[in-house]
Amino acid sequence: MRFDVITLFPELIEPYLHTGVTRRAFASGIVQVCLWALRDFADGHYRRVDDRPFGGGPGMVMMAEPLYRCWQAVRADRGLPPVRAAGADVDVPTVLFSPAGTVLSHAVVTRWAQPQRPGAILICGRYEGVDQRFIDACVDEEISLGDFVLSGGEIAAVALLDAVARLQPGVLGDADSATQDSFHPALDGLLDCPHYTRPEVWQGPAGPVDVPAVLLSGHHAHIAVWRRQQRLLATARRRPELLDRAWQAGHVTPAEQR
Ligand code: ADE
Repeated sequence: MRFDVITLFPELIEPYLHTGVTRRAFASGIVQVCLWALRDFADGHYRRVDDRPFGGGPGMVMMAEPLYRCWQAVRADRGLPPVRAAGADVDVPTVLFSPAGTVLSHAVVTRWAQPQRPGAILICGRYEGVDQRFIDACVDEEISLGDFVLSGGEIAAVALLDAVARLQPGVLGDADSATQDSFHPALDGLLDCPHYTRPEVWQGPAGPVDVPAVLLSGHHAHIAVWRRQQRLLATARRRPELLDRAWQAGHVTPAEQR
């Protein structure tokens, strides 16, 4: 799958593609990422990409025309017609990162991670926002990282790319398989359990702290039960709505619900 990222700051995203476990997905091309510098599509000596908002108000707005030119260049590079006919099926979806979008979740990421999907054109907004006429004409979906405001969509683009890359087969080792992650259906959508590593006794600020004994027992069935209980406990305390959802779906037994 291929993701084209339209951004004013490709240099913010570039290092991420070569770092950490997910770099395998990008280096191998399982997840192909093409970075597009929006300023290359702007006019004039200053290569201007923003202007003051009509109607007044603070901040600047990203202009439609440089975005549209860049978007057309991306489509041409993908061998697609530069303009999508009105009412035509979405060939490659265009995503804008914005606080007004659908909040990113495991379910949303899983959809984007399907290998048969074509990826997307990702638009990283900056300033107060993007000229609505470009959004109306070209954007199919808006995605948000949550109820807070970022200075731009680059961090959100990296978040989506990272989450999609780690779900690709062979990207994570067996030991840290994505099926063991929080929110994964394999764990009934619950939060993950606590983890411990060496030493068995850690000299913490309040004195020595042991690892829970069951984890040292070598008894796999007991460890599995303990981990399940810890997942249920963590989810009940921190995200009770996720526990309700698991319960509604029949994933939590009455004994566990207690
Ligand atoms: N751009 C600005 N704020 C954002 C958010 N919360 N999520 C995604 N993109 C954004």
